[in-house]
Amino acid sequence: MGGSANLNIMPRKIILDCDPGHDDAIAMILAWGNPEIDLVAVTTVHGNQTIEKVTRNALAVATIAGITGVPFAAGAHRPLVRTPEVADSIHGESGLDGPVLPSPTFEASPMHAVDLIIDTVMRAEPGTITLVPTGALTNIALAVRKEPRIASRVKEVVLMGGGYHGGNWSAAAEFNIVIDPEAAHIVFNEKWKLTMVGLDVTHQALATPQVVAAIAAVDTAPARFVLELLDFFAQTYKDAQGFDFPPVHDPCAVALVIDPSVMTVVKVPLDIELTGTHTLGMTVADFRSVAPDDCTTHAATSLDHAKFWALIVDALERIG
Ligand code: BDR
Ligand code: CA
Repeated sequence: MGGSANLNIMPRKIILDCDPGHDDAIAMILAWGNPEIDLVAVTTVHGNQTIEKVTRNALAVATIAGITGVPFAAGAHRPLVRTPEVADSIHGESGLDGPVLPSPTFEASPMHAVDLIIDTVMRAEPGTITLVPTGALTNIALAVRKEPRIASRVKEVVLMGGGYHGGNWSAAAEFNIVIDPEAAHIVFNEKWKLTMVGLDVTHQALATPQVVAAIAAVDTAPARFVLELLDFFAQTYKDAQGFDFPPVHDPCAVALVIDPSVMTVVKVPLDIELTGTHTLGMTVADFRSVAPDDCTTHAATSLDHAKFWALIVDALERIG
């Protein structure tokens, strides 16, 4: 957002790779509205709905939030190996059911998301771009296979997915990982710094009545849009998974990039189960001893709920 130019900080450049998706939409709003983030590209991936629907949703969210000057590109329409799956029980037929969506005011780039990711990383100063995937890891896996040099050029990968306590799409696995476990396996085993912001923390990011009231008090069109998203999300999370208040997963990954004190993070070996009968897509964390020096994977373990939601309210106030 323009506000960053007025502050004496170096914003963190991120590529948001997402599948909007109610919580992806809020992640995008947080990234745009926070002055410590420089949103350099938004790429979409199959997941919550088809690539056509999530791309249209991403452009509609950009229209509502007033996002300009950021390239958007559509990516993979299916997982690397598995049969495509969508999360309509959580996000509805459109992928963003609830609010009435505006017609987007701009179009996605003709580039494929994978090429936009590679291009953006390779053109930037080494160590300056953070990848923030909040959907299946298909685009990221394809990008690093197509241009392996991005592994050493990105600053880090901070992703929403997985969880070491258990899953939400199966007993053992989380949605973003299990719908394309082979892609996740590639991404978790690359030698870049990777932080898993999984269900262990995102199930603490509940949109409680106090949170809803704080967002309502902002009283702008984007804030009302977020309230409509949360309203729909609350109902599907109650019906599908028995939550009293919905867990708002994806902005947690953006929040960690903005302010590391919003979460506790530990270094721990992580890998993806690819052959288990009941555990396909499980993110296996080895907490048995101190992580070895060459371990590059990390897991978020707890969330400061008040700090997290204050960032979102602040972003909405700045967007206006
Ligand atoms: C993840 O799955 C998707 O439905 C959400 O957008 C989030 O990225 C949570 O398991
Ligand atoms: Ca998502």
